[in-house]
Formats: sequence, structure tokens, C-alpha cells
Amino acid sequence: MTDQAKRPVAVITGAAGDIGAAIAAKLSATHALALVDINLEALEAVANVLSEQGADAHAYKCDLTNPDDLTTLSDLVQSLGSVAILVNNAGAAATLSLQAMKTEELARDLALNLEAALNCFKTFAPALIENGNASLVNIVSVNGLGTFGHPSYSAAKAGLIHATRAIAVEYGKFGLRANSVAPGTVKTQAWKARQQQNPGVFDEALAWYPYKQLPEPEDIAEAVGFLTSPAARCITGVCLPVDSGLSAGSPALPRTFTQSTDFDGL
Ligand SMILES: NC(=O)c1ccc[n+]([C@@H]2O[C@H](COP(=O)([O-])OP(=O)(O)OC[C@H]3O[C@@H](n4cnc5c(N)ncnc54)[C@H](O)[C@@H]3O)[C@@H](O)[C@H]2O)c1
Repeated sequence: MTDQAKRPVAVITGAAGDIGAAIAAKLSATHALALVDINLEALEAVANVLSEQGADAHAYKCDLTNPDDLTTLSDLVQSLGSVAILVNNAGAAATLSLQAMKTEELARDLALNLEAALNCFKTFAPALIENGNASLVNIVSVNGLGTFGHPSYSAAKAGLIHATRAIAVEYGKFGLRANSVAPGTVKTQAWKARQQQNPGVFDEALAWYPYKQLPEPEDIAEAVGFLTSPAARCITGVCLPVDSGLSAGSPALPRTFTQSTDFDGL
């Protein structure tokens, strides 16, 4: 058996996306990678890059909203070894506002961002329990903490923050820790349409952030690396924002409320 074959397995969903790929790169030093996405071509490109860098990376095509796909995925992944980490990272927003929201968009947002993450957890729960020292991280969003548009996506992410706490409480006795990570605005392909519509969208977004830098995919990956590491041994049930302070507030409001220029921007 090679050293790589003895490694515990990290399952990362949405790994063809920028944040998922960065999480995979971060965990590749310590874990074999089960990379999961509906977009097999993009996923294999990520797996190839990581393999060239020495990772033990395996790509699995899966529609996470399809329970049959999840069962097949779990059977395939368990042949890799003991599953120690599950990162539910796949996610997307279908609606912009409640006024524009269509019934099928509400269903799509809840299906991918809430139900798929919970079903994926339930599918891998027996393996995580068997590992005995496992960790779940759900990638949520600042949208689950405040009101920033995309209402049905936000409701699903808020639901997932709650579900993460529920998992921490119910599964702690099995040696499983469960936490969520809430990114702020991260420049990924998910922003492509908005950036095409408004090339200044990231500069406009930055104006609301107390700490004047937007998080990169690697910043989200660092948080996942920490929460899944032994350094976070007693951290479970938390939601860690990686949002340059957005969920703490925005300088514009205290500027108005106090009329103090101390809150003026850079
Ligand atoms: N980018 C941001 O600004 C931001 C902010 C807050 C939270 N997030 C969250 O971070 C996570 C990753 O976002 P990202 O920006 O990297 O997005 P992304 O669009 O780059 O990646 C998402 C990936 O999920 C995959 N996916 C979508 N539906 C799927 C399905 N049914 N089955 C399997 N895979 C599916 C897509 O193919 C894609 O590769 C998401 O949960 C998102 O909600 C992103």
C-alpha cells in the first residue's frame, strides 16, 4: 500500500467551481480527494491539474439533486477508503428577487442549496460515523445571515446554517463535527453574468465591505482547512463568515447614524 492509499478521503461537491477547486487543493496535502460535480468535463480538468501537482484526485459526475446519483456516488467513493471529510460546496442562485421569483426557481434553489446538501450528508453519514473522527463543512453564504437579494437561495442557505447546528448537536456523540463557512463576494464563474452586465460590480460591492479586500477562493479554502483540522478539535456547530466584515456591518450606516467622518471610506 502506498502512502497515498492510506490517506483518509475528503469528498468535495461542486469541485469544478472555483471555490470547490481551491478547497480540493487545500485538502490534497492530507487527504485523497473525491471530487464531485454535475459538470464532468470541468471537473476532470480540475482533477488533472491537482493530480499533476501530486494529489490523489478522483472525479465523479453526480447530480446532487438526484437521490439515485447520491447512492451510486457513495458506493464508488467508499472503495477509496475511509471518508473523513465531507464539504457540501455545490450551490447556485436561481432567483434575484421575490417579485421576480417563479415557483420552479424556488424549488430549484431549495433543492440544490438545502435539500441536496442534507441528502448528501445523510448518504455519507454512515461512512463519517464509521470513521469516528470526521468533519462536515457546509459552504453557505452571507446571504444566509442577512438580506442581500436572491431570496430563495438565501432562505436555503439560512436553512443549511440551522441544519449544520442540528447535525453538530445530534451527531457529536459519533465523533462528527459539523460547521458552516459563509463566504462574502468571491470572484468566481458564478458572477460571470453579473460582471458582463456591470463590469464595475466588484468595485461597487467592495464599497460595502469594512475590510477593503474581497475574499478569494483560497480564503474560503483556508477556513475549511482549519475547521477540518485537529486545530479545530472542539469547534462544532459554528458558522464562520469569511466575508471581510460584511456580516458585522457596513460603514455607510454608522456614518449616517453618527454623522461622524470617522466612518468615511478610503
Ligand atoms: N462566489 C461567491 O460570491 C459566493 C458567495 C457566497 C457563497 N458562495 C457559495 O460557495 C459555493 C461555491 O460557489 P462558486 O462561486 O465556486 O460557484 P461555481 O458556480 O463556480 O461552482 C459551483 C459548482 O457547483 C456545481 N453544481 C451545480 N449544480 C450541481 C448539481 N446539481 N450537482 C452537482 N454539482 C452541481 C456546478 O457545476 C459548479 O461547478 C456555493 O455553495 C455558493 O453558494 C459563493
